[in-house]
Order: sequence, then structure tokens, then C-alpha cells
Amino acid sequence: MSPETTAQKSAGASRNPAVDDSPGNPAPLKSDCGEKPVAIEVQNIVKRYGDFEAVKGVNFCVAEGEIFGLLGPNGAGKSTLIRMMTTLIPVTAGKAIVAGHNVADDPDEVRRMIGVIPQAMTSDQDLTLEENLLIYAKLYGVPRGEREKNIDAVLEAVDLTKWRDAQTKTLSGGMRRRLEIARGLVHNPKIFFLDEPTTGLDPVSRIAVWEMLNKLKTTRNLTMLLTTHYMEEADKLCNRIAIVDHGNLVALGTPVELKNSVAGANVVEVHFDRETEEWQGRLEKLDGVTSVQPESSGFYRVITKSGSKTTMQIVELAASLGETLTSLSVQNTTLDDVFIHYTGRQLRDEQVKPVFSMPPRPGAQP
Ligand SMILES: Nc1ncnc2c1ncn2[C@@H]1O[C@H](COP(=O)(O)OP(=O)(O)O)[C@@H](O)[C@H]1O
Ligand SMILES: [Mg+2]
Repeated sequence: MSPETTAQKSAGASRNPAVDDSPGNPAPLKSDCGEKPVAIEVQNIVKRYGDFEAVKGVNFCVAEGEIFGLLGPNGAGKSTLIRMMTTLIPVTAGKAIVAGHNVADDPDEVRRMIGVIPQAMTSDQDLTLEENLLIYAKLYGVPRGEREKNIDAVLEAVDLTKWRDAQTKTLSGGMRRRLEIARGLVHNPKIFFLDEPTTGLDPVSRIAVWEMLNKLKTTRNLTMLLTTHYMEEADKLCNRIAIVDHGNLVALGTPVELKNSVAGANVVEVHFDRETEEWQGRLEKLDGVTSVQPESSGFYRVITKSGSKTTMQIVELAASLGETLTSLSVQNTTLDDVFIHYTGRQLRDEQVKPVFSMPPRPGAQP
């Protein structure tokens, strides 16, 4: 039976034959918004640079008030998608409708409705925060009488009011990111595009930016489309996620839908002190185990319906055979597992935390 599902064929996704692909687990690819009012709609959109196709016919829809994430590795086509939706580069084929306007026919209308935070930080270092915001207010045609009020409001919204007269170069990376978020909001857009909003930030600043975006979404009634290669960011922040790889959309759904679409619910990582040919077969026979992936000598990733039961059974198995476990850890299905399932590659940004580690045997190599 072909592992490729109809949904994936229609998205043009190429599958990695090395990936375990249990039948009955088609990638969720719900590309319409159902009954909800639509903020962004992309239909069969394509971008070609010469002979190279950076975006290969992508479909999705973002509902009003949603935080929608494009998740994928470097080079997947995320920035290219954002640039087309925000009128910065022409669309090769297909179309993008943003706030009810086709980007190809009414770029000026689209620009009035959107705020854009590009991937690189672009605020002027030598200007104060207020001066940076004023330039954008003028650029976006905010009437003179409203500029001051808008600048007050956006500075307050990103918690930078007391830095108003500071030079931008004196800000930390996280604060500069918040200034850029304020800048993108100074003309009161309805739809906010953010290209990798937290790339390069430390973990604390990253969480501060997530909290800020969540608050802004509610207080300003915004729809947000963001790109990221951080799975945790997509998981925590986004209502729905589209996984993008090599210019294709390979899966689309809520974080829970995406995780549930992958066989098994937990991943147990087990490291035996000694490799034997029987480990794989023995692990596959345990209750609830749906697949076993050898990682390196003696090291296996076990996909199971019950992490706790499988963990117990592995400990018992090792004890009954007189074998030593060097580590054993259990985790819920993450977007990383989802990513591997649909692309055959890893996009991991955090390590699994072992639940316990055995001390090395006397005389063992460190
Ligand atoms: N102006 C360009 N000319 C040619 N190729 C480009 C151009 N911009 C992007 N690409 C290529 O398109 C692909 C997608 O790039 P991009 O959209 O920037 O990916 P991402 O944002 O997901 O990292 C990459 O292979 C990149 O090298
Ligand atoms: Mg990019």
C-alpha cells in the first residue's frame, strides 16, 4: 500500500520512504476556514526564481483573530510566502487575498491593512524610539493629529514607554524586537505579519515576546501570521500551524491535531549499555509499542501508546536479562515528532530531559 495519502498528493508533498508511516494517519491538511470570517487566503501560490521553485503551490486560509504559524527549517520558503502576502515580491502563479484584497491587484489597499515585521531588525540605531516610530507613522500615512496618540499607545502596549527618548542602540535585543513590534502597529493594522519574531533572542526575551503578542492579539483584535523554526514557539503561541518543507505545505492543523495525527502518543528514549541484535525485536513486542527507531549503538526511540507502561516494561526486560540501562526518558509527542513523521528530518530545538541516568559502570569509557 502506498504510504502517500491523497491529501499529501494534492499538496505536492514528497515523502521520505525511510519514515515510518502507519496507514490511517493521513497528514491533517485542512486548508479552509470553515464558517469563520477570513483574514488571509492563499490559493495554489507559487514563487519561482529563474528555474528554482521556492514555493510550489501552497493553499491555506487564516481566520480573523487567529495566530497562524508557518513552521519549517531554513530555506523552506517561509519568508518567500510572507513577502508575497505582504506585496514585497510578485506572485509567480496562484493568488493571495489579504483583508479581502488580491495582493496583485490592490497592493496599496493590502499595505494599509497590514503590519509587517521583517526577519532582520531594521530600526535605526542612532534614533530614539520615538523618532523611529514617527518615521513609520509618516510612512504609513497616519494623520498628523493622530501620530502622537498612536505612538503613546504602541509604546505602552510593548512596555517601552519609559524608553521613549532613549537611543535605540542602548536597547537589549529583546527590547529592540518589541520596538519593531510597536513600529509595525503604529498605523493600527488589522493583520500582523511577523517573520521569525524571536530568532536570536535569549529564552527569557523570547517568552516576553510571546506574552506580548498574545496580549496584543486580544487587546488590538489582531490576526497574526508568523513564521518560525522553533517548535516550542509554534506550539505555545499558534492556534494553527502549517508545516512547510521545500516549498510545500506538508501538514496543517492545531498543535493537538498535528500531534494526534502521528502514531503513538509518547516517545521513550532508551540507551542500553550494550548493543545486541535482539533489542529492536524485543522492544517492538512490548505492549502498546507502535514503532522502534534505532538511533545509534544501543540507543532506540520507542513510539508507544503508553510511555509509563513501556518504561516499566523496559526496566523489567533489562533486569530479567541482566543488562544495564544507561538512560531512559519519556516525553509526550512533540511537534518535533510530527515534523519527523511528515518530512523524514529533524527540526529539534530542545533536548529530551532524562527522567534518570544510570551512573557509568566501573571501568566504562566516559
Ligand atoms: N531572491 C532570491 N533569489 C533566488 N533564490 C531565493 C531568493 N530568495 C530566496 N531564495 C531561495 O528560496 C528558498 C526559500 O527561501 P526563504 O523563503 O528565505 O526560506 P525560509 O524563510 O523558510 O528560510 C531558499 O532555497 C532560498 O535560497
Ligand atoms: Mg526566512
